[in-house]
Amino acid sequence: MRTIVTALALIGTFAAGSALAVDMPKEGKTRCGACHSIEKKMVGPAWKDVAAKYAGNADAEKTLVANITKGGAFGWKLGNMPPKGMGATEPEIQSLAKFILTLK
Ligand code: HEC
Repeated sequence: MRTIVTALALIGTFAAGSALAVDMPKEGKTRCGACHSIEKKMVGPAWKDVAAKYAGNADAEKTLVANITKGGAFGWKLGNMPPKGMGATEPEIQSLAKFILTLK
């Protein structure tokens, strides 16, 4: 009985922790993390701000995949993003575009 209670308490802690802080996926840290964070503008815009820019845009995912793949400037006036960040593969770009659009 005691073990079960402890286990439940632990699960509760994990669930609460992950709800508070969204972590960048591993490929995001290695391919994009030098210039982007979720919450803060760095070299590039905060991914939360990108999500806000595309809120309600039906083509958001397609547009993001295309923009991340070709790089360049997208109106943030921060300079130019290198194509594919730091060598992201196509599947990584697709999953990162999806991830960015889940942010609020
Ligand atoms: C060398 C720095 C650098 C790296 C690495 C980088 N970015 Fe960027 N990114 C930028 C800059 C600078 C901008 C803003 C360009 C502008 O001013 O419009 C940007 C803009 C963006 C945007 C906004 C696109 C839009 O349509 O508004 C997204 C999304 C994005 N980056 C995703 C990524 C992802 C995903 C990766 C990793 C695969 C990545 N970036 C890697 C510098 C970088």
